[in-house]
Order: sequence, then C-alpha cells, then structure tokens
Amino acid sequence: MTLRANWSYPTAIKFGAGRIAELAEQCKAVGIQRPLLVTDKALASLPITAAALDILEAAGLGRAVFSDVDPNPNEHNMQAGIAAYKAGGHDGVICFGGGSALDLGKMIALMAGQTVSVWDLEDIGDWWTRADASVIAPIIAVPTTAGTGSEVGRAGVLTNSETHKKKIIFHPKLMPAVTICDPELTVGMPKFITAGTGMDAFAHCLEAYCSPFFHPMSQGIALEGLRLVNEYLPRAYATPDDLEARAQMMAAAAMGAVAFQKGLGAIHSLSHPIGAVYGTHHGTTNAVVMPMVLDFNRPVIEERLVRAADYLGIKGGFEGFRARVMELRSTLGIPANLTAMGVEPSRLDELTEMALEDPSCGGNPIEMTRENTRALFDACM
Ligand SMILES: [Fe+2]
Repeated sequence: MTLRANWSYPTAIKFGAGRIAELAEQCKAVGIQRPLLVTDKALASLPITAAALDILEAAGLGRAVFSDVDPNPNEHNMQAGIAAYKAGGHDGVICFGGGSALDLGKMIALMAGQTVSVWDLEDIGDWWTRADASVIAPIIAVPTTAGTGSEVGRAGVLTNSETHKKKIIFHPKLMPAVTICDPELTVGMPKFITAGTGMDAFAHCLEAYCSPFFHPMSQGIALEGLRLVNEYLPRAYATPDDLEARAQMMAAAAMGAVAFQKGLGAIHSLSHPIGAVYGTHHGTTNAVVMPMVLDFNRPVIEERLVRAADYLGIKGGFEGFRARVMELRSTLGIPANLTAMGVEPSRLDELTEMALEDPSCGGNPIEMTRENTRALFDACM
C-alpha cells in the first residue's frame, strides 16, 4: 500500500512523503500571494523550515517567517505575530510546526483584521459569530509533529497570560483551506516530542471513544486511530526514520482531532490547567494522567474498552487495555506521575477548580465534581 492520497475530509489534505514540494502551488490555489510562515523558535533554524521557505521563494512568494512563539502561545505572541503580518503586507498564513505554531498561526489569521478581542471568540455557544468572517486570512497547515490534529480542526488554543488559563478559540474559518501532511517532516522530532505528541493523539481517540455523546462516525474513527497509535507509535519512537510508522502516526493524529468533535474528557480537563500553570508538554501530561482517568471512568467505560481491546488485539479486556497504556508509557519514557512532573500538592485545590472550568470536563463519561476531581488529582500524584 502506498501511503499517499488526496483527501477532502474534513478539509483538503495532501497526504504523503515529499508533498511539502507542493507548498507554493497550494498557496496559489487558495489565493495567497504573500504568505507569512508561522513556526516556533526551535523549528525556525532547522533545515526543513529553510527548505519550505526555499520552495516559497523559488515561486516568487517571498520567505517571510514569524517564530516568536512560546510553547503555550499567549496573547502577547499573537499581537507580535499580527504586527509582523501587517508590517509585511501578508495575505495568508502558513502554520508550520507542532501544536504551538499551528495554534498561533491560526490566531494570527483570525485576528489580524478583527476589532473584537480574541477572548470574545472563546468556544462558547455562538460567540464565534462576533468575528467578522470576511477578514479572516486563508490558512495552510503543515504539521511537523503527529499529535495535536490542529491541522484538521476549527479551533486554536491560546493561553491568557494574566489568568494562566487556556482558552479554546473557535471559528469555522479556522479550518485550514489546505493541509499538507508530509511524514518526512516529522522524522527529525526529538524523541520526547514523538512520544508526547503521539500520546496526545492516543488521548484524543481514547477520550472521544469513551465520551457519552451520540456520534457513531467519530466513534469509528477513534477506534481505528487507537489501533494505529498502539501499533505504530512504539515503532516511530524506536526508529525515527521509519516512514511507514511516521505516516500512520500522522494519519492517527488527524483522526484523533476529527474524532474529538464527539467530546474530550478528564484527561484533557486535568492536563490543560497543569500545562497552563507549569508549562508542561500537553501530550506528555495527558499520558501521565491517562491510567488514573481510566480507573476513574471504569464503572461506565469498561464494556466499551473491552470492545476496543478486542479490536486492538489486546488480551485481558479492560485490565489488558490499562496494562497496555502502562506499557506504552514506560516504553516511551513518560514520567510515572504528576509529582515527577513538578506539580506541587499545595496547588491541587487551584488546579481542581481550573479543571472543573475546562470545557473538556463536560465530555467525561462520569460527571466531574469538586470531590472526585480533587481525588483524581491525588491519585495522579
Ligand atoms: Fe490534546
């Protein structure tokens, strides 16, 4: 099987090794003449970024870059990016990188022409209608990790630097016009990023699969996504240049994000505040709390996980699935608990309050209360 295809679901996806060569062509196809490539500080100096800029320059599209992005992007990063976008007279954004670059690039495209505050566009009810859709710049997404799935999503995450809260900003036009999924771009990822982002994809599929809402399409995608991560993440981690494993992980990441339209749950509602307060890696944090969240939800998800274990070829039903998660964590060098990540017991009450305010909380199969959420944090320590 050749792992190369053009998909139109949920947006135009050019999937396959080497497809970055089509970057300039895709800019032109969506009407971008002066793209601003938004990436992060670490990627800015890497050869894959220079190569992407060379492709743009050779096609007469310039080589403008903005890379002043914190690991958890905030409104100051966004304002600096908008200033660069306006100063350069740009007419579209290429989001090139991992979750942070994708999220920030989307925010720049969304906000460069708006008069409302970005916080007024939080993913609550129909708040997105407050934005002027006609001035949102076209977006091309080029993921260089396999996890966030932001390349196929209509939202971006922005941290409020005053409150340290992560806010999900939503608009239908944040869905990239085109996404280029080129697994060769993920080969050079540091190992802990391969591990953490891969486990983020797993968490998306797992939480979507377990969420109680009626969405059989997402349910099916989540299940196959779980299988791909289970099979290919250890391979991608052990052998970074295994392009088949990288391609399957890249597909799984996109599948996770499509699936979590069905909902996320306690893994993400715990992980978001920890990331906002301590700056921990999102996917790694998800992996740390995952087994404890499985225990927490066991009374209502057991039957469902028995079916998943069956499909994944894992023996032992729920216990077998949980054991496999523990095995993945140790194979991938994930810390054993939140204490090992630097979380302080003195802040658990505060983190509990933040978790209860997180929008993911509503998708958890068991209702999260102050008491059981605080107990869950204790279990994760
Ligand atoms: Fe996530």
